[in-house]
Amino acid sequence: MKLKSYSERIRESADFLRGHFGPAPETALVLGSGLGEAGADCPAVKEIEFFGVPHFPDLEMAGHLRIIRLLEAPLRLCLVLGRFHLYEGLSAHEVVFPVRVLSEWGVGTFFLTNAAAALNENYSKGDLMLISDHVGFFMESPLPWPGRRETDPGFTDMSAAYDRELMDLAREQAGISGLQLREGLYLALPGPSFETPEEIRFLQRMNIDAVGMSTVPEVIALRHLGRRVLGISCLTNFGTGMRPEAVTHAGVIETAESSSPALLNLLLAVAAKVRSSDGQ
Ligand code: HPA
Repeated sequence: MKLKSYSERIRESADFLRGHFGPAPETALVLGSGLGEAGADCPAVKEIEFFGVPHFPDLEMAGHLRIIRLLEAPLRLCLVLGRFHLYEGLSAHEVVFPVRVLSEWGVGTFFLTNAAAALNENYSKGDLMLISDHVGFFMESPLPWPGRRETDPGFTDMSAAYDRELMDLAREQAGISGLQLREGLYLALPGPSFETPEEIRFLQRMNIDAVGMSTVPEVIALRHLGRRVLGISCLTNFGTGMRPEAVTHAGVIETAESSSPALLNLLLAVAAKVRSSDGQ
């Protein structure tokens, strides 16, 4: 039997979501490690776990919810709790499979969030940081997927990967609610080991404000598809060696969970202001 191609699998998964949820909402909120906590409590009209969607990578991760939820009120949008990571042994094109499926379903605007370490001493644990741009040198690209057509080499403009209009909306909505929204440069490493103190000092010399293990592959795939992207990091800890205590996954999740209501409120406020990509 011939194996289904990557593109066929994406189309089938998107058809499945269409059948399950109906037409796609304009916006999807992807809530990373520990950040889905508040989103799990929102009243959803329908939901489905990742493993219920055909062709989604069949992986579970302790402490990570993986579920797609559709809200109708106060706004029709999609909450994606959890994501896949390179450190789970997946290739980058598999890591971005869910956002490619959402995009194929018809979602035009993606708010991507993650947990990250603060490297900027002016920032504090628990702060939210608008991602102004990223450094992704150390990550595998999601674009050369198997069976990719030679006519699409994947050369993708990344000059304004994070949408300027969405960033303005995020600043504006944070201002209205009195939330201090930091801003800075995010660098992704494949993980899953945390950095050494020397790696952190190296990244600080490169003026990196935050380091994490995700998001960059999704941003590249979504920009390749012409989708709009907003990125926000929750600064769950300081980089290794910046404080006496060790960085732990449990500590990351604990801080992310306590910041998740503020993050969700901000994203919902921004989503309410997003004009749809077809101008309606
Ligand atoms: N390093 C890399 N990724 C992270 C960290 C960290 O210290 N904290 C949360 N995500």
